[in-house]
Amino acid sequence: MSTRELQDLARDVAAKAGELVRSRRREGVSVAATKSSPEDIVTAADRESERLIRGLLLDARPHDSILGEEGGSTSGTSGVTWVVDPIDGTVNYLYGLADYAVSIGVVEGEADPVSWEPLAGAVYAPELDVMYSAARGEGALKGTASIRVNSPVDPGLALVGTGFGYDPERRTRQANVVMGLIAEVRDIRRMGSAAVDLCRVADGQLDGFFEVGLNPWDMAAGALIAREAGARVGGLRGEAATASMTLLAEPGLFAFLEARLEGLNADRILR
Ligand code: IPD
Repeated sequence: MSTRELQDLARDVAAKAGELVRSRRREGVSVAATKSSPEDIVTAADRESERLIRGLLLDARPHDSILGEEGGSTSGTSGVTWVVDPIDGTVNYLYGLADYAVSIGVVEGEADPVSWEPLAGAVYAPELDVMYSAARGEGALKGTASIRVNSPVDPGLALVGTGFGYDPERRTRQANVVMGLIAEVRDIRRMGSAAVDLCRVADGQLDGFFEVGLNPWDMAAGALIAREAGARVGGLRGEAATASMTLLAEPGLFAFLEARLEGLNADRILR
């Protein structure tokens, strides 16, 4: 399968799962379980969505591996891994806010952002009815239209997105990083779905984004979509984007944010 065909498969499966979770939300949402903390929730729709996604992917590509946020990993023999978030932005989903998405990335190698080679991905936000997607080397799309990151912007006029993990102690350190940065940019947004935020950088609705503590399923699709739209994607101190730092922006703004975030030791939050 070409990367374009993988992109099509990711889009098709994300659309079906998105329709499912949107219709389930109309019926009412309740918390099925909590994970790392009481705030870190799973709904029945997360689980149902992931079951649907796994079934559809394995029907199409039975020898691939899958890592999903709710179902863990299953190993195949093809060397290709699907990295799946069945609902990214679950708290928004619970509260009836529009920013949540199904995120499906596909990579060569294991589900490790340091070593994987992204092949394709799709992020479908059903309430916004927007499908972002990309294939390696083929550019990024919103629906069927090409998208690009914003042109270089004065950092003082940059709108920057961020997010917070669920660990209470870490959240305080994350908030301190926001305090250190907010006076130097136009403003900071915390909208609640990292997958959508990464696509917003691709689409020019944000100038940049950073977060410490992202999981592979939060970023597998969105980071490729942003990269294909012209964003630089990485961590601090020349490292790859990992749980320690996922930073993306047009290259000039990336350099500014990298320097400021290094000064604030933002990638040390996890340590
Ligand atoms: C979360 C969202 C949020 C980000 C968190 C993620 P979930 O994913 O993407 O925006 O700040 O780090 O864990 O829990 O809603 O799938």
